[in-house]
Amino acid sequence: MRSVFALAGAAVLAASVPALAADFMGPESCKACHPEAYAAWKSSKHARAFESLSQREKGDARCTTCHAPNLDQQVTSVSCETCHGGGQYYSPDYVMRDPELARLVGLNDPSEKECRTCHDASSPSLQPFDFVEKLKLIDHWTAERQRRQGKVDPKALPEKKSARREEAPTRPVRAGSAEGRYRHRLDRVIALMAAPVAPKQARP
Ligand code: HEC
Ligand code: HEC
Ligand code: HEC
Ligand code: HEC
Repeated sequence: MRSVFALAGAAVLAASVPALAADFMGPESCKACHPEAYAAWKSSKHARAFESLSQREKGDARCTTCHAPNLDQQVTSVSCETCHGGGQYYSPDYVMRDPELARLVGLNDPSEKECRTCHDASSPSLQPFDFVEKLKLIDHWTAERQRRQGKVDPKALPEKKSARREEAPTRPVRAGSAEGRYRHRLDRVIALMAAPVAPKQARP
């Protein structure tokens, strides 16, 4: 039962996260830990979407909504965090290694619907947007997964994404460290949300 409440709490937290402003770190911040993904993205059209615009168009919101939607975060083009969500809270190593915690604090799984917010009838392509085909063209994960082979590939494990937080592999966390404080706060928030609401007592 507790886990059901915890998950409900998680949904509330996750829903509130995108509302936080100024949480983009920029693509260079992902590069050290995701060199293959970075290299593939860097050579893609997404990384150059802003450069496709003329000087005048770079200041035109009618173009930047798709070619550079995160200028307010000082990030140009269609970048890692345009699709994966602002990384301020999920990019620390210990968060990244905990798939559920990472998603709680803003990591987004990009969907076909999100691609279509830009790849729609008003963008210049002559072909209708074919998600499966287009996904292959932006592949920046195969090389990354190959590197990890030899270690356990988390994608190969069943029910990875629904794994409950309680079941995430635990390792000792130094009390008083940033990670320890962070986990402690998060656990308290989740516990608060998980606490059953006391039924209203009729006054005598
Ligand atoms: C300090 C290192 C580090 C940084 C910085 C970092 N990551 Fe990660 N990331 C990881 C690790 C470690 C994993 C887990 C890989 C594994 O399961 O072995 C991961 C996993 C991921 C995943 C897959 C998550 C899943 O559960 O499917 C995505 C997507 C991701 N990172 C995106 C990003 C983006 C975007 C940035 C930049 C904003 C970023 N990461 C910054 C270390 C990092
Ligand atoms: C924020 C807007 C935006 C989002 C979201 C977005 N794209 Fe794009 N995409 C663009 C723009 C703009 C270009 C053209 C860049 C250029 O050449 O200037 C592009 C180009 C591409 C291209 C290369 C051109 C082509 O059609 O072959 C592919 C492939 C692609 N996107 C796939 C995807 C996929 C798959 C997703 C979802 C996972 C996605 N895009 C999400 C804006 C977006
Ligand atoms: C609704 C989202 C959207 C808007 C708004 C938008 N674009 Fe694009 N643009 C795209 C996508 C998606 C592509 C890639 C299409 C493809 O190749 O399949 C693209 C491609 C381009 C390309 C071709 C780049 C190349 O590599 O050949 C240019 C140039 C371009 N757009 C300029 C503009 C200009 C100028 C504006 C503003 C007047 C604008 N776009 C507004 C989504 C958009
Ligand atoms: C246009 C949207 C888009 C952009 C831009 C983008 N990604 Fe992704 N990324 C995706 C999608 C979609 C997937 C999931 C693909 C799948 O699992 O089939 C993914 C998967 C990943 C993974 C998961 C690999 C694994 O082990 O499962 C990592 C890590 C990642 N992206 C990092 C990055 C980094 C770093 C950048 C920037 C350098 C970036 N992404 C830019 C859409 C995007």
